Amino acid sequence: MNRYISDIDTVRLNPAGDGIEIIDQTKLPGRIHIETLKRQEDIWHAINILQVRGAPAIGVTAGFAMYLAALAISRDQTVNGNPDHMKKERFFTRLAAAKTYLNSARPTAVNLSWATQRMEDSAKKFFEENPAKDNLTTVLNTVEHLKAEALSIYEEDIATCRAIGENALTLVKKGDGLLTHCNAGKLATVRYGTATSVMYLGHEKGYGFKIYCDETRPLNQGSRLTAFELSEAGMDVTLLCDNMSASLMKSGAVNAIFVGCDRVAANGDTANKIGTSLLALAAKHYNVPFYVCAPTSTIDLSCSCGDEIVIEQRPSEEVTKMWFENPIAPEKIKVYNPSFDVTDASLISAIITEKGIIKGDYLSNLKTLT
Ligand code: MRU
Repeated sequence: MNRYISDIDTVRLNPAGDGIEIIDQTKLPGRIHIETLKRQEDIWHAINILQVRGAPAIGVTAGFAMYLAALAISRDQTVNGNPDHMKKERFFTRLAAAKTYLNSARPTAVNLSWATQRMEDSAKKFFEENPAKDNLTTVLNTVEHLKAEALSIYEEDIATCRAIGENALTLVKKGDGLLTHCNAGKLATVRYGTATSVMYLGHEKGYGFKIYCDETRPLNQGSRLTAFELSEAGMDVTLLCDNMSASLMKSGAVNAIFVGCDRVAANGDTANKIGTSLLALAAKHYNVPFYVCAPTSTIDLSCSCGDEIVIEQRPSEEVTKMWFENPIAPEKIKVYNPSFDVTDASLISAIITEKGIIKGDYLSNLKTLT
């Protein structure tokens, strides 16, 4: 039987409620493989090597991971029967350690720390406000509460992405050529994607878009993931190497560019996959609207500008040999491999969120959303 990724959530809690099911993105487009993650080390590793990736999907995974951490702590308490473990302080110290550990998996996407923080805050609030007959019962109730909280993050992600797509649809017209970079698609969220939501919704409504996907070196999220998921959904998709986008814009084929983001600073500077800022610069030159799609969970007002965003540096092998049978660069060559870059707010035509479209004075206007 053929499997289609459009029928499978990118991330979800398994039916038993004791593991996270992810579509393993390192195996796409060749094979659709569902991996079940239970241990914190396995979840950390899956995020770190991009089996699950894309800022919102990382956030949803982190929410479930915090629930699973709490479940494991509570099981230690009940199975081992150590009364010391049942202390509130002990529970929250271990939950905080799980948060710190998960946050270290990747630095740039704020959704990771946003989700772990939301889970910790929610656990503390629930524990304080719902004391049971003893601490152990309160802990067990808190674990159940965390399961519900993680499921809310997952459900909110679906609704948020759809709302971003509905807002973005007001900016395009039938037959438009739309260019995207990296994968801010269904595979970067639970369903719909952020930058691709407009494409999915437009496709449902018969807009007949022509979609252009940048390959997105070095990890090829554009060719392996975006081109795969959008063509599987039946869209008209054309793939191009990253260095071809300016020529495509010059040809007049691109009416708008939609990209996702990993963190939006308070002034509107935006971190996204490496190559995004180059695309924005070319778009400005060729007068092509450049839109960033951002769930409000990706807006980080504590970061005043793009210079404060930590940019992940990744291993040199990703540039010199990954995906190739033989090395494509001299052995031991020095490699510059930042995973993300920052696009200046001045190059962004609008930031499209689930709560509305923000443009102009980002410093004032982003504050109205959160
Ligand atoms: O390194 P990745 O594949 O996690 O990078 C993903 C991106 O840069 C996406 O564009 C971003 O996370 C937004 S996803 C909706």
